[in-house]
Amino acid sequence: MDEKKVIFSGIQPSGDLTLGSYMGAIKNWVELSEDYNCYYCIVDMHAITVRQVPADLRRRTLEQLAQYIAAGIDPTKNTIFIQSHVPAHAELAWILNCYTMFGELSRMTQFKDKAAKNSDNINAGLFTYPALMAADILLYQADLVPVGDDQRQHVEITRDIANRFNGIYGDVFKLPEVYNPKVGARIMSLTSPENKMSKSDKDKGGCIYIMQSPDDIMRCFKRAVTDSDTWVHYDPENKKGVSNLMQIYAVATGKSFETIESEFTGRGYGDFKTAVGEAVVELLRPVREKASKLIADKAYLESVYKEGAERAAYAANKTLRKVYKKVGFVGK
Ligand code: TRP
Repeated sequence: MDEKKVIFSGIQPSGDLTLGSYMGAIKNWVELSEDYNCYYCIVDMHAITVRQVPADLRRRTLEQLAQYIAAGIDPTKNTIFIQSHVPAHAELAWILNCYTMFGELSRMTQFKDKAAKNSDNINAGLFTYPALMAADILLYQADLVPVGDDQRQHVEITRDIANRFNGIYGDVFKLPEVYNPKVGARIMSLTSPENKMSKSDKDKGGCIYIMQSPDDIMRCFKRAVTDSDTWVHYDPENKKGVSNLMQIYAVATGKSFETIESEFTGRGYGDFKTAVGEAVVELLRPVREKASKLIADKAYLESVYKEGAERAAYAANKTLRKVYKKVGFVGK
């Protein structure tokens, strides 16, 4: 197990998990979980950089854990845990804050976006978010970080911080790299396919959730935006809606774009949208059913997150002890 490369990734429990997070992240995590030593985290500390309703945050954190497992991540082979359960994240984040520059944080596009969206709550945590994310990754000496393009800049700043620290104190941190999955699925909104499918999307019909009922899912797909011709053809520049539906169908069924095109030649978009909806319903059905059972089994979930936190803390504390020593703290 120790020779395996280390993977770290996390999702914020700031909204219910979507088809986008399933196809773009979790499905890939499952595939990686056999060959790598994976840490999959529920980053609740990042979530509170934006105001949350406490009861919702708690519920979504547990649901997210259940959904990770239901999607196929085996908690006995990988470490699934809740960020706030491992104090080393907060502890290293503080230290890294002191090696992260105001200027570089000011250039983070996610900070600028979120500050614009939450202009009444531009708190220091939102600003130093990347230092906490760097702590997440560096604590585990992760080799690879599977994230979408919107998080690339955060992995780059993680490397910059690690480099700066290593430059002063010697080799303490492994420099992580972004992991690009073979089939990167970037799923767009069903109603505004120029935007990423997002749990914070104002338009509810644009986003599919893992736990959504089959009827609701079908309704959303039937209303999905297409275009004014009738050709099921992959052209993400000019046919954004149709291409997004093809991408979803391809991930759900494993079919190639050519196969899909010929399957729907001479058939209308109505048929096509129904087929995509049905494929998604069948893809998500086992995940939803298993997750619902797990959510009801509080004792089991508790055993998973406790064991996860214990394993994570063991690895994280090793790095943290080294860091404490390097910066000149007196050992306990
Ligand atoms: N910032 C990531 C996001 O919003 C979530 C995250 C936090 C993360 N810590 C991480 C992702 C560490 C990868 C590795 O999507």
